[in-house]
Amino acid sequence: MDNRLLVVGSANMDMLLRCGRIPSAGETVLSYDSYGYAPGGKGANAACAAKKLGADVVFCTRIGKDTNGSKLYSLYESIGIDMRCVYTDKVEQTGLAVVLVEKNGTNRIIVYPGANTKISDRDIEDAFLSYPDAVMTQFEIGEDAVVYTARAANENNVPLIVDAGPARADYPIGKLGRIEIFSPNESETNILTGIQPGSVEDCLRASSALCSKGDIKYVVLKLGDRGAFIYDGKYFDIVPSYFVNAVDTTAAGDAFTAALATEYIRNGKDIFKACKYANAVGALTVTKPGAYTSLPDAEEVKRFIEKNTVADTE
Ligand code: RIB
Repeated sequence: MDNRLLVVGSANMDMLLRCGRIPSAGETVLSYDSYGYAPGGKGANAACAAKKLGADVVFCTRIGKDTNGSKLYSLYESIGIDMRCVYTDKVEQTGLAVVLVEKNGTNRIIVYPGANTKISDRDIEDAFLSYPDAVMTQFEIGEDAVVYTARAANENNVPLIVDAGPARADYPIGKLGRIEIFSPNESETNILTGIQPGSVEDCLRASSALCSKGDIKYVVLKLGDRGAFIYDGKYFDIVPSYFVNAVDTTAAGDAFTAALATEYIRNGKDIFKACKYANAVGALTVTKPGAYTSLPDAEEVKRFIEKNTVADTE
């Protein structure tokens, strides 16, 4: 069974603050809820999610030589992530994210990337010596590192899965070569294509616009509680999600894409089945607060799928 996933991505410490509403410019809003620090970062969330779902995960990242860095290092080590490419940068601080969560569970995030910007070509080359079955990356590290990862994946004939967060309108998707799965959420789709993926027609238009930007086998739009929209350049499919009570959407997209990648490689590259599994993981993730703290393990996902019926039929 193909099960080794290389994640080249960011590691952050998240500072979580719940608020009744987000302040407007010049305004101060008091939050009487508690605040806290928790492990996060789009790359780390994906690496930890995949590990908890049973993948053999090699994580390539950089953290700082500071307290947050040591906390993150110990956590990754304790859950069994392959640490050979988790580097401690001597100059830059560990990435930090301020995560504001509103009452309805939606979030707004500001990231100081710090050491995440220092992932080097050499770091990535070394990571490929682990002979991964698939490689996953996101846009929260330097663009050069993403391009280098993609080039290495293409040269080594390893499927590349790209989570398009955080998106930038002019991101050079064409430079990434062959992409097996490209997965943005709704706002990332809008930023990358100028099309809000509301109706089925708009999802199709947006997916097709994404395909025209690069060499993409599958576009998978993450549509939150509406599920996932799959497009292969010719046909589309919609995989409905599960009904859950969302308390915090932080890391749900990271966990979804990690689950998608994990299930895709271990189950014969069936994109539909992989999306169904990823929907369950994304749904479970929004039922708990925080990033790492909200990630389900393989057993929880199995029980959830057995108990729950999806919102719609196939
Ligand atoms: O996707 C959620 C993540 O985005 C948070 O954990 C935060 O660190 C930012 O990277």
